[in-house]
Amino acid sequence: MHTAKLFLVALAAMTLVSEARSADTVATKEQLCASCHGQNGLPSDQTVPIIRGQQAAYLKKQLDDYRNGDRDSQIMSSIAESLSESEIAQIAADFGGAKWPEEPKAPLPAIPSPTAACKACHRADFTGGMAPSGMAPRLAGQNSAYLVGSMTAYADGERANSAVMGPLMQSLPPADRKAIAEYLAALR
Ligand code: HEC
Ligand code: HEC
Repeated sequence: MHTAKLFLVALAAMTLVSEARSADTVATKEQLCASCHGQNGLPSDQTVPIIRGQQAAYLKKQLDDYRNGDRDSQIMSSIAESLSESEIAQIAADFGGAKWPEEPKAPLPAIPSPTAACKACHRADFTGGMAPSGMAPRLAGQNSAYLVGSMTAYADGERANSAVMGPLMQSLPPADRKAIAEYLAALR
């Protein structure tokens, strides 16, 4: 999807959100999520993250952060603001409890050496889980364009909702971040 098209989808989504609001059921709101995050769990736009099968506690934290302004996104902030705390808990549990979408195997690039350091928190197989610094998200199979974008946002300080990830990403040159993203996206 092109940025312009995504923007139109976003406008449509925001209209839906403001029309529906509290009258809507959680299931209806989850349908809205699927319009961008993929009916089958795979977003057609590679800058949109896979959320189906992501760690539930991580999803909840991100939705809370968008809602209270700790993480900023033109699209997600207004969507999260339209959700109540209990809806966020339910939606995070539903997506987190579902199975990560299957994709055909992709050729695995050579392992970029900085990825060894990521495993302490994101787990050896990059499926994420509880880390000393909080709930680390699954990275294995995540869309590479989204991963590059979020690593850049940490490095630039644009995404400041993690005390660990900002300094870590600043220490990696952009070429390393891109190689890491391509490697992680190819993991199954
Ligand atoms: C119009 C498209 C669109 C819709 C509708 C949408 N999202 Fe998103 N979502 C995005 C984009 C784009 C991002 C990446 C934003 C960023 O970089 O911070 C995102 C990011 C997220 C993230 C962060 C994931 C991560 O790995 O950090 C979560 C969680 C999320 N969305 C949940 C939802 C839920 C739940 C709904 C429905 C209530 C929803 N989204 C509806 C486009 C959308
Ligand atoms: C000390 C623990 C720790 C280490 C080491 C670590 N991470 Fe993280 N990472 C986290 C936590 C915790 C989060 C979630 C932050 C939050 O709560 O918003 C995260 C988030 C991320 C995200 C955001 C994913 C998304 O869906 O938006 C990316 C990408 C990421 N880490 C990549 C890496 C890479 C690549 C490395 C190694 C070079 C690495 N991390 C090393 C703990 C760690």
